[in-house]
Amino acid sequence: MSLSRRGFLAGAVCAALPGLPRPGRAGVPPVLLARPGSARLGPPDAPATPVWGYGGAVPGPTIRLRQGARIARLLRNDLPQPSSVHWHGVRIDNAMDGVPGLTQPPVPPGGSFLYDFAAPDAGTFWYHPHHRSWEQMARGLYGALIVEEEAPPAVDRDDMLLIDDWRLAADGHLREDFGALHDAAHAGRIGNWTTVNGESGWTRRVRRRERLRLRLANVANARIFALHLKGLVGWLVALDGQPLARPRKAGRLRLAPAQRADLILDVDAPDSGEAFLVSEERGRGYAIATFAVDGSMRAERLPPPGPLPANPLPALGPLADARSVRLAMEGGAMGALRRATLDGRALGIRDLAARGRVWALNGQADMPETPLLAAARGETVRIVMVNDTVWPHGMHLHGHHFRQVGPDGALGPFRDTLLVDPRETAEIALVADNPGDWLLHCHMLEHSDAGMKTWIRVG
Ligand code: C2O
Ligand code: CU
Repeated sequence: MSLSRRGFLAGAVCAALPGLPRPGRAGVPPVLLARPGSARLGPPDAPATPVWGYGGAVPGPTIRLRQGARIARLLRNDLPQPSSVHWHGVRIDNAMDGVPGLTQPPVPPGGSFLYDFAAPDAGTFWYHPHHRSWEQMARGLYGALIVEEEAPPAVDRDDMLLIDDWRLAADGHLREDFGALHDAAHAGRIGNWTTVNGESGWTRRVRRRERLRLRLANVANARIFALHLKGLVGWLVALDGQPLARPRKAGRLRLAPAQRADLILDVDAPDSGEAFLVSEERGRGYAIATFAVDGSMRAERLPPPGPLPANPLPALGPLADARSVRLAMEGGAMGALRRATLDGRALGIRDLAARGRVWALNGQADMPETPLLAAARGETVRIVMVNDTVWPHGMHLHGHHFRQVGPDGALGPFRDTLLVDPRETAEIALVADNPGDWLLHCHMLEHSDAGMKTWIRVG
């Protein structure tokens, strides 16, 4: 089909449906339609899987815009349950953060909600529901949000890889044991099938010494991906949407749920060979993305890239004077949690479990009435997260990026989600400069549902 023919058809469709908002027309935001659909997730001969997706597809549409531009999307909820959209990692207006009960009411089936906000930071972000997310994301609701740098680094191709795992049954259906207490008390819902951008065996044709930008995002409910590269060499240039001050040599990478990593890589496999993004599971490597090398792009490798331009993040104030709060993480299988407060009542672990709660933050299972921390706007604060459990937790703070403070005071890169290992204590520091109420929770979604969430208020 020629381009002009396609253009003609598109025009005809618009003309025939004058009531539908068209993207780009001033004042009429495009619709983001959350609805049931189906996807070919499994091997080529496997049946299609009923999913929920934005536009009915997995992943949902990629939203790309320039740094500083506004994004407007009208969420229309055609799901059989309420929903919302959270724009993960965006330092957003609080009212647009998409957290039912904290920043907006849930959007009922048949309802809609207009998200309209600016994206201050260039980088790799994503969007997903924040209502029953352990079910809605496991069913396929997520998409990429890419905010382009003013002057993007020179690469030959730029690919977003949304890495997911699914719990598939032999008939191609998803196992519907969403939010199972056993998963919640252990590592969360770990799947048995991995996809990249909703495909199994994601493959691209590349050329030798081609320069790729790979934007990796872990969109799984709970699985931590241990990744490495084969036949690809280069640099890690950003984490969680925020540029590293200095690119690091790309090597092994642990990607917790919700975390992102931007890599700039050169294809280093021989002509007619293959390069891989490899996921390691119990000592075995699985190719989750394959790059088939077909010819050579250039004789020599390109010079190393410089750092990506920094985003306008506030600089931390002096840490010695900063207020510090402690966040005790307790619970889970093989944990020591005996009792915790739920809805204002102290309950023993059996009563908690009967209510689907097996985790606590500072002795509170589920959202506390009062915030973990009420910060003055612009205040630098420290949060000491003490993981007194035998499970890793990917802790995510909304509306801000923080830096890890090492035992020696060294500051890590800016992040929005930090993996805190079993028995580890991890301290973060941030400038609480974004007014509103912001969730702080484990992004292992079953953990969050079963109690691992709290919030901070920025005045
Ligand atoms: Cu990715 Cu609270 O969210
Ligand atoms: Cu957790």
